[in-house]
Amino acid sequence: MLIAQISDLHIRDHMGMFGELVDTSETLKKAVQLLNSLEPQPDVILATGDLTDDGTEEQYSQLLEIITHLNAPVLPLPGNHDERAEFLNAFSAELPQEMPDEHCSYVVDDFPVRLIGLDTSISGQHDALFSETHELWLSGILKKDKDKPTLIFTHFPPFETGINFMDLSGLKSAERLENLIRDNSQIKLVVSGHLHRPIQTSFGSTMVSVCPSTGNQLKLDLNPKNGSAVDEPPGFQLHVWKNDRFVTHTGTIWEGKELDMSQYVAYVNKKISANEGIIKD
Ligand SMILES: [Fe+2]
Ligand SMILES: [Fe+2]
Repeated sequence: MLIAQISDLHIRDHMGMFGELVDTSETLKKAVQLLNSLEPQPDVILATGDLTDDGTEEQYSQLLEIITHLNAPVLPLPGNHDERAEFLNAFSAELPQEMPDEHCSYVVDDFPVRLIGLDTSISGQHDALFSETHELWLSGILKKDKDKPTLIFTHFPPFETGINFMDLSGLKSAERLENLIRDNSQIKLVVSGHLHRPIQTSFGSTMVSVCPSTGNQLKLDLNPKNGSAVDEPPGFQLHVWKNDRFVTHTGTIWEGKELDMSQYVAYVNKKISANEGIIKD
């Protein structure tokens, strides 16, 4: 199974704080083209929050106009820049009927890997909380199909990164989620966004991977007094489920030079199928 992830699309209809750095509609259009050109095609695309900059109806319709061109189905989640009512309205066709009243979390059981969207955002706030309500909902879900490999996707990463100002607007009570994950070894991967950079760590009995933004990135700067946004290349991730494990790749939306290596690839394939070593020229 091939799962693509896009995050922090921040579709906007004004310059805003980061408008001069990147045109997020243009970079998302390029991401759509790139994802549609992949072989094999992703089975599903997770869109892990901050889909718009301000959560307005106009911004969601601008977003839908772009992502409607994606070949694979999209599973969206809200982030701190989204607005719940407008998000639910925009994605009424994509989201399952069965969702809790308090948060936009849901389960998709149509694939070899069970996909759990976990929404921990708090209306009107930039930080998030894994509350007792979330814990009750998630533990109830995890009790079913304990043998089915499971991936949790969420906007807020549940760990401290050392990028101080983002950690301060991070997930509160993440240890509650970590304990739950430790007790549920069917969870093979947690993926998130919010940080506008690719970052990975171990968490409970699994790994967490953070996807870069399809718009601007945040600068890698561990000085707690600093924080800046940069126009490093927009990115996405591919999570490949094979041989009972996930392998995560980070790709960039980038128009650079490419050197075709298909002759060497054909040579390696020939040698391997003949059960011979790959001899250096
Ligand atoms: Fe974001
Ligand atoms: Fe965010």
